[in-house]
Formats: sequence, C-alpha cells, structure tokens
Amino acid sequence: MTDPALDERFRFGDAHHNDGVHTKIAIRRLNFWYGETQALRDINLNIYEHEITAFIGPSGCGKTTLLRCLNRMNDVISDIHVEGEVLLDGQDVYAPGTDPVVLRQRFGWVAQKPNPFPWSVYENVAYGIRIHGLTNTREEQDELVKVSLERAGLWDEVKDRLRDAGTDLSGGQQQRLCLARAIATSPEVILMDEPASALDPLATARLEELIEDLRKDYTVVIITHNLQQAARVSQRAAFFHLGRLIEVNDTEEMFMRPENQMTQDYITGRFG
Ligand SMILES: Nc1ncnc2c1ncn2[C@@H]1O[C@H](COP(=O)(O)OP(=O)(O)O)[C@@H](O)[C@H]1O
Ligand SMILES: [Mg+2]
Repeated sequence: MTDPALDERFRFGDAHHNDGVHTKIAIRRLNFWYGETQALRDINLNIYEHEITAFIGPSGCGKTTLLRCLNRMNDVISDIHVEGEVLLDGQDVYAPGTDPVVLRQRFGWVAQKPNPFPWSVYENVAYGIRIHGLTNTREEQDELVKVSLERAGLWDEVKDRLRDAGTDLSGGQQQRLCLARAIATSPEVILMDEPASALDPLATARLEELIEDLRKDYTVVIITHNLQQAARVSQRAAFFHLGRLIEVNDTEEMFMRPENQMTQDYITGRFG
C-alpha cells in the first residue's frame, strides 16, 4: 500500500497544481489515533486558497476525522493523539502556543444534518456576530444578519420570517441558515461535512450553487459521498481509503484519468 514515490509527491503538495496559488492549509505527515486505533496515516495534502477541495472515499476512511483536525474540533474527544502538522497560512495549528478557540474563529462549519440553534432565524445569525463583537450598533448587526442571509441565498425567503424559529424552516432552508451563521463571523475557511446528505435534490442543487460561489471569498473543504457533486462544485479532489490519502488532483483530471487503481475502482462504482 505504501508507495514511497507517491508519498514523496504528496509531501510537497502535488505536482499538478498551477504555481502561484496560496496554500491556505498544508497538512504534513499527519497521523491521528482514537485511543489505540489509527484513523489517519501519514497524510500530506495542500488546500489552496479560493478553491473548493472535495474529500471523497468510502465510509470510515477518515474524511470527517481529517476535516475535524483542521480546526482542532477533535480536541474535544478524549483519548485522541495527533502527530504531524497542519499549517494554516504557515502556522502550525497544533503548536503549543495556539489557542484552539481563537483558531476555530477562522473556520466556519456546516454539519451533515442542519443544526440551527433552537432560536429565531435572526438570532441564529446574530449570535456569532454578538459573541465576536463584530458590530457596534443594532443597525449594523441587522445589516450583517441581512448580508449573511443574502450571501446564503436565504434572505428573500425569510425576510418576513426573521422572528420564526430556525427549526421551522424546511431542511434546505435550515442548511442555508447554518451557512449564513457560518458566514456571519467572516471565517477564512469553510468546512462542510456532507452538507447536502439530508436534502432533497432541489435543495441540494440550490446549496451546490451557493457553494460554488463561496470560493470567491473563502477557502472551502467539502466532504461528499456524491461524486457528481464533487465534480460539480470542486476544483480539486482528494481520495482517501483506510486512513490514507490515495490520490489528489484537479477534480476533472482525477475523474477522467485516475492514476491509482483504487481511485479508479471507487469512481467507477466498484466499491464504496
Ligand atoms: N469518536 C470516535 N472514536 C473512535 N473512533 C472513531 C471516532 N470517530 C470516528 N472513528 C473511527 O475512525 C475511522 C474514520 O472515521 P471517519 O473520520 O468518521 O470516516 P468518514 O468520515 O470517512 O466516514 C472509522 O474507523 C471510525 O469508526
Ligand atoms: Mg464522515
């Protein structure tokens, strides 16, 4: 399984990408354990600014674990162990001086199932704005709530329902509300763990349009089981299997000409 030549290429990102793109996150020799069980093995991967990177691979291959390593969300799990580096703009997020709370402010998170707070639509978005002290007046806060909801493609649907409970919205609307909540605090990187898996096809299409658009302002990493979705929204794709990064490339290139047999088997539906 371990191919030194491939390892070497992954260690320095990848040989395929255009030069001159800022490496937002560089994952270097990352290993991760839950107790005695190793979930990530020697991951070397670059995530580029203003790109959408898709993590693909069969269930249990470590996609969520890796995503949660980026903003140290795994820290809250007891008995975990991390080796290697995750460099955000060149700074190791696992360095002793890093405050995980401050670090996490640089990330937005959209979960698998829509998980709005049990409050009004307005409060769902305003909460983070207030917590981070992003605005000085009520008018400014109202404006930022509005802009965030617009950016998440939800404003027109909820502008007369701001006092309604977030949980009363449809599933697709709830997920866009969660996106608005994530955007409101101006993150640099947005992490999404199968964000459309609980949505119907129309709501999925609506969300995908928004995701594509996000790269203008953010760096996005999205986990998806849906290869068509990866093809539609991402510029780069990383394929994982049993805790290892098997292949990373421009999405189109990887889907047209996978270099690894396992990648080919996965994208042609032979397993997964
Ligand atoms: N909190 C946890 N405690 C122990 N093992 C876990 C935990 N979360 C995930 N795992 C294990 O780590 C491996 C990778 O899981 P995960 O990152 O969730 O994969 P994926 O998102 O690709 O489905 C799996 O074997 C899973 O059972
Ligand atoms: Mg997962």
